[in-house]
Amino acid sequence: METSKSKPHAVIVSSPGVGRLVCDLELGNRLVTDHSFQVTFFVVLDCQATAGESQLIQSAEAQKLLHIVVLPPVDLSGQVEPSTPIFTRLASLMREIRPTLRSAFSALKPTPSALVVDILGTPALEVAEEFHMLKYVFVTSAWPLASMLYAPILDKEVEGEYVDQKEPIRLPGCMSVLPEDLADPMLNRTKPEYNSFLQVALEMRKSDGVLVNTWEDLDAATLTAMREEESYGSAPVYAVGPLIRVAGPAASRSKLLDWLDEQPVESVLYISFGSLGVLSAQQITELAWGLELSRQKFMWVLRPPTPSKKKDDASADRSRGDENALDHLPDGFLERTHSLGLVVTQWAPQSEILGHRSTGGFLSHCGWNSSLESILSGVPMIAWPLYAEQKMNATKLAEEVGVAVRPKIAPTKGVVGREEIEILVRKVMAEPEGKAMRARVKELKISGEKALTPGGSSFNAVSQLAKQMHQSEASAVSH
Ligand SMILES: *[C@@H]1O[C@H](CO)[C@@H](O)[C@H](O)[C@H]1NC(C)=O
Ligand SMILES: *[C@@H]1O[C@H](CO)[C@@H](O)[C@H](O)[C@H]1NC(C)=O
Ligand SMILES: *[C@@H]1O[C@H](CO)[C@@H](O)[C@H](O)[C@H]1NC(C)=O
Repeated sequence: METSKSKPHAVIVSSPGVGRLVCDLELGNRLVTDHSFQVTFFVVLDCQATAGESQLIQSAEAQKLLHIVVLPPVDLSGQVEPSTPIFTRLASLMREIRPTLRSAFSALKPTPSALVVDILGTPALEVAEEFHMLKYVFVTSAWPLASMLYAPILDKEVEGEYVDQKEPIRLPGCMSVLPEDLADPMLNRTKPEYNSFLQVALEMRKSDGVLVNTWEDLDAATLTAMREEESYGSAPVYAVGPLIRVAGPAASRSKLLDWLDEQPVESVLYISFGSLGVLSAQQITELAWGLELSRQKFMWVLRPPTPSKKKDDASADRSRGDENALDHLPDGFLERTHSLGLVVTQWAPQSEILGHRSTGGFLSHCGWNSSLESILSGVPMIAWPLYAEQKMNATKLAEEVGVAVRPKIAPTKGVVGREEIEILVRKVMAEPEGKAMRARVKELKISGEKALTPGGSSFNAVSQLAKQMHQSEASAVSH
């Protein structure tokens, strides 16, 4: 391993989960390729690597940009029950990994100048302090960061449960939020998760900086507020994104792309709710009708519906075992829409589809990943959040950024009807409003790409970090 005094040496500790690993690796690669950092990358696993994690680790090792170290697993038996919620389990894992980190850090000579952890890794910051390293936290998006940094203030100011408040919760300089849309751990202040959440917030406020996977143009208002309003604390906020995984060359070209090749430019609406997102059977039916009525081209990644909650269906559902998603399409739908669209029941290469010139819209559950991918492909969205935490993404994309339309009632609250779906689809794909959104999203795509190039805002933010690290090394040497 080449070491050089002039290179800032950072350690990244990545906590379990494919999504976090993807982002942490991208950050590491960026630091190495664009800013000549030396990066030691510790992977913490929950027992053993999932298939997704193994694959990522292998390809990162093959790239040789980062010095990857997979830490030995920690025995959590006696600490957590099998029924312990995953958040609590991972939190105790990240506490118990500290002795391992201590010995790993002392083996690194000279001592690295900074530690970067993700949102679950804040317990490890204590170890960085013992080694006189700078401490940074890397988070995925700006709004949740603001609500987290502000949580200790809300904790002092608001009496009783947040969910019992009559008014939206106001964060200085940010969109206000309905109490029920706050992060899960804030929904019940008597639970231990709430205290862990506050603890993470306090550790973040004490860090030497927070890195966010966004860029200045996308989150201007929120970033400015966090920097200027005292109530968010004084940790510097660095926007270092957009960092998304660049798809490697696929082993074989998907037939879906062949189909897209034959469609007109920007004519196809891509529909996918992420790997975990499922619709109700009724919603599948309404969506199908809406698409058919809209007469627009589509590619729909369809998964089996959520099991029906109605008592009289329950036994029928159970006896049927795994449901067939196609059963819930209206009779004759596939035949009638044969020339319009494709229904896909297998995995689809999302980044390639979004990047294809024929794709002109994305009906999305608004995970931050997917939203960034869509923006960086210049594709406007129909925002269709499935969980509370995605609702704020949807609101932001539609109201603040102007690159999405969304149903009047949130899909988390009820079924969106076929007429409304028809209108939304036509708006994005065929009407002037969609054109304006497409122009806006293309501007953002360019601004996101620019942010990462020399002289761009995210590039400069990382240069600042490097400077801070050099200064702290210099002062460590002079002491
Ligand atoms: C982000 O995207 C990667 C693949 O690009 C996926 O494996 C991961 O689960 C996603 N994370 C989240 C939080 O959606
Ligand atoms: C919070 O959780 C406690 C018990 O875990 C429960 O009694 C209480 O009703 C919950 N409060 C809210 C607002 O959900
Ligand atoms: C966006 O969705 C992700 C889940 O993919 C969530 O973790 C995050 O908090 C949401 N961001 C906003 C701005 O609410």
